[in-house]
Amino acid sequence: MLYCDRISLEALARQYGTPLYVYSADQIVERLRLFQNAFAGREHLVCYAVKANSSLAILKLLADQGAGFDIVSGGELARVTAAAPKAAGRVVFSGVGKSADEIDCALGAEILEFNVESETELQLLAARARQRKAKARFALRVNPDVFADTHPYISTGLREHKFGIDIRQAAAIYRAAAKNKWLEPHGISVHIGSQIRSAEPFGAAIRRVSRLAAQLKSEGIALKAIDAGGGLGIDYHGGNDGADAEEKVKEYAGALEKALGGFEGRLLIEPGRFIVAQAGALLTRVLNVKKNGKKTFVITDAAMNDLIRPALYQAYHEIVPVKPRAGRTRAVDVVGPVCETGDFFARDREMKPVEAGDLLALLDAGAYGMAQTSNYNSRMRPAEVLVEGKNHRLIRRREEMRDLLATEIV
Ligand code: LLP
Repeated sequence: MLYCDRISLEALARQYGTPLYVYSADQIVERLRLFQNAFAGREHLVCYAVKANSSLAILKLLADQGAGFDIVSGGELARVTAAAPKAAGRVVFSGVGKSADEIDCALGAEILEFNVESETELQLLAARARQRKAKARFALRVNPDVFADTHPYISTGLREHKFGIDIRQAAAIYRAAAKNKWLEPHGISVHIGSQIRSAEPFGAAIRRVSRLAAQLKSEGIALKAIDAGGGLGIDYHGGNDGADAEEKVKEYAGALEKALGGFEGRLLIEPGRFIVAQAGALLTRVLNVKKNGKKTFVITDAAMNDLIRPALYQAYHEIVPVKPRAGRTRAVDVVGPVCETGDFFARDREMKPVEAGDLLALLDAGAYGMAQTSNYNSRMRPAEVLVEGKNHRLIRRREEMRDLLATEIV
């Protein structure tokens, strides 16, 4: 029988229904600590990437442990301030396009730093800051032209990607901005992509960034922070025990430390996946097992709208029966009820026998799972439960049809 900490997953599924996201609060906090400890030797702030899982209870849990937040929209800012009003000063605002309204809200909240992605965005930021008579702290998000081995949809650090400002143009922009009374050059930021398993490309990017910081310092522009972005990947084949997590974080920290050279300011990092992915599972009931020719399909009550990663990035998630049955393994496709062939969780996966009514756990689903759900096929989003030691509680009720209809006008 499979457990989340000491709580039986079967019991949770019975109490709260399926599909159901279940998270371990202890593991989330432990992961945050790994980063905080690995950088204990320098001034730093772990700004959890809200997009990975923006559920309020998780944001509050992290804020209570001293985390800052990386946001990419006004909506994410509203989530942070709803969950932890005092954390606004620990927020960095990333994102390829920010509207004037979003900038105004973030200036009003007195966030730590705007990570600016273009010269025109910097001009907009200056104009909004002037209007409010409040100086805006900014970092340029530079594009370091570093290759990171990951899925092409989540790689961001090459010149051909839409992200950031060409690092070769950054110094000139800082020089001009330093003369603007509404802008404070506060940092440099970089983010090369997500689900990157090797520390090496992070080091390569930060080397370029710290060289730029040193050059600017020699010109009298001393930046207070380097933001190394997020992106540290997890082992989706590891059965979610995350045994090597501490080692991975240390290796990552070592690569950043080395690359930071003599930089004396504060280090910001924006991990998302590494903090929450392995702390979460998606529970789903088997609706039916059917054969079509040679293929066996295990049809679950969860679908691509509940966890889109396999359909979108060909991502692998381990799928384990919560109460395994005896018998030989066989290759099956695990699929959802949505009317698309792309609605699958696994193809030709060797699994022990499963039957209708069995409960399955899709592992490592804590990051980019709930956050990327949709109502496609008019399906209601799942509920979420947080396990806190011996206790568990609902942190988001299951959507009801009236929630879906509420915004519509006939
Ligand atoms: N900072 C910035 C500016 C980002 O764009 C991202 C992720 C992060 C931090 C956090 O990266 P992480 O530590 O979680 O790798 N939906 C995809 C992942 C998209 C990542 C987008 N940006 C997936 O399910 O794999």
